Amino acid sequence: MASSVDSTAEELSKLGINGEWTACAPPNLQKNLQLLSPDQVELAKMLVDMGQNHLFYHWADPGVEDEDKKAFFAQVVKLDQNYPGGLVSYIRNARELLADSKAGKNPFDGFTPSVPTGEVLTHGDDSFLNFEEEGIKEARRAAFVLVAGGLGERLGYNGIKVALPAETTTGTCFLQHYIECILALQEASNKMAKDGCQREIPFAIMTSDDTHTRTLQLLESNNYFGIKPSQVTLLKQEKVACLDDNDARLAQDPHNKYRIQTKPHGHGDVHSLLYSSGILNVWHSAGLKWILFFQDTNGLLFNAIPASLGVSSTRQFHVNSLAVPRKAKEAIGGITRLTHADGRSMVINVEYNQLDPLLRASGYPDGDANCETGYSPFPGNINQLILELGPYIDELKKTGGAIKEFVNPKYKDASKTSFKSSTRLECMMQDYPKTLPPNARVGFTVADTWLAYAPVKNNPEDAAKVPKGNPYHSATSGEMAIYRANSLILRKAGAKIDDPVAQVFNGQEVEVWPQIVWKPKWGLAFSEIKKKVRGNCSISQRSTIVINGRNIFFEGLSLDGALLVNSVDEAEVKVGGSVQNKGWVMENVDYKDTSVPEEIRTRGFRISKVEQLERTFKEPGKFSL
Ligand code: UTP
Repeated sequence: MASSVDSTAEELSKLGINGEWTACAPPNLQKNLQLLSPDQVELAKMLVDMGQNHLFYHWADPGVEDEDKKAFFAQVVKLDQNYPGGLVSYIRNARELLADSKAGKNPFDGFTPSVPTGEVLTHGDDSFLNFEEEGIKEARRAAFVLVAGGLGERLGYNGIKVALPAETTTGTCFLQHYIECILALQEASNKMAKDGCQREIPFAIMTSDDTHTRTLQLLESNNYFGIKPSQVTLLKQEKVACLDDNDARLAQDPHNKYRIQTKPHGHGDVHSLLYSSGILNVWHSAGLKWILFFQDTNGLLFNAIPASLGVSSTRQFHVNSLAVPRKAKEAIGGITRLTHADGRSMVINVEYNQLDPLLRASGYPDGDANCETGYSPFPGNINQLILELGPYIDELKKTGGAIKEFVNPKYKDASKTSFKSSTRLECMMQDYPKTLPPNARVGFTVADTWLAYAPVKNNPEDAAKVPKGNPYHSATSGEMAIYRANSLILRKAGAKIDDPVAQVFNGQEVEVWPQIVWKPKWGLAFSEIKKKVRGNCSISQRSTIVINGRNIFFEGLSLDGALLVNSVDEAEVKVGGSVQNKGWVMENVDYKDTSVPEEIRTRGFRISKVEQLERTFKEPGKFSL
């Protein structure tokens, strides 16, 4: 036995592969070392040193499956390059985090929670309008970043989430809606600029192997939804290696023993990708000041973007987390200031199941409780961030964009020695402030939930099981939230909008408001909408209205049915009088009925276009309807 190892060592030495490590390498690797390039030998050594011998146990003799062996090292190179500090750091970090997890260590031990500073917006009041004006002024110095690399396992949709219609009255998908909002902001902001210079707002999208090709196809097949392709940058995040046990042994892919199993690393990757791409410096040199991060399926977000950016600018926040009012113990993270006895301090999202025990351990016997407003003083994090670009770049120069990670293994039993399935390290976008110095200006902006937050995350079956009073976060509730928000905004602008009726779709009871939809260029800011609704306008509950044009003004309109108005930007159209027809009707469909397209059946209804009045104004000029 010893003599065969000695002779292998001798042969390897002849090939220039030296070192004691080869003696520790599994025999199947030793036999194959002659096939490897010097770089691959180095990687093999690293894997052996890091306790990953098991990856080679099944390797065939040289001459058999050699292409697979090459592919194995190609993947190892990629995994090594894509993680700050390489696979060695990944495995070390994993061991540390897995040991902490096994020991049940609380990452917030020693920290005392308190309420950070922030701004609570009331839609439509003077302060809201002032912030909105400031935000629109600043928008031309902003870049937008959409994180869209997630698998959407909970939703279970076969396509990419940004291709889903935000609402089915017009069928506008999330990506189109986001782009049109950015373009509307760009136009409004350029109009306010004193320098007369027309700026273009950059838009970056983080994709992953699961979403990249289809995101690009969606853009290309729709002419980028009107934004210039040069304004758009796609950055693809890579997956990280899965881990099989507490020693951080890398998991083999169940379908290919020459591959390491990989899973997404989380949306926190966006920071290192932006940094390594060099795009932040390009934006900074172009005079940009703000960067706004947002997620893939929130059709309401842009209702709150102008005012929230105004808050960032007015209050000089380096980091502004958008938030919604949160009931105590509600299953949504709370924005919290954490202060440590050793002087460390940060403003950060604390998950709801950590916040209550943390408060109790810090001298608040009632834990996470509502205050006099009826809500928890810790606002609910919705994971949309506005960062000031300069301080952000300074910080990333120090960290390279690495975000504090966590691990969430599902253990087989209380001994916590083995996992039900492989796990991996993950990181979250909102954990960026964790490394900031205590003097960083980190705050929040709270907007009403009805105005700003209705994500589409859950499939119909799971949504129907959500306990009463909690949000469904389904395609059904996401669409209904858009009609509700638009109805409430028009009400505030002076129109009489009938109350909603309750209806059940896919087992979810929702409020059905009139189906009111407009293009962002018609009214992204409330101040703009107020100018476009005049006289006594009224809209009945069963009505539909689609506003597809910039200068469409409602003057004493009474609508009971469906009305669609389309106009070119140079036309000014006054819409008044009484419009009545059979309208558009929502018909129930069952999500199990696979004869209905997935995009429709997941919401539990389809819109039957029975009768409508549609007017289109293609020429410049003034018109009345
Ligand atoms: P979600 O929490 O919705 O996660 O992500 P998800 O992975 O998309 O969906 P589930 O959990 O499998 O059901 C919030 C945002 O972060 C993006 C998503 O695309 C979404 O916009 N994300 C998530 C990434 O960009 N990369 C990731 O690795 C994970």
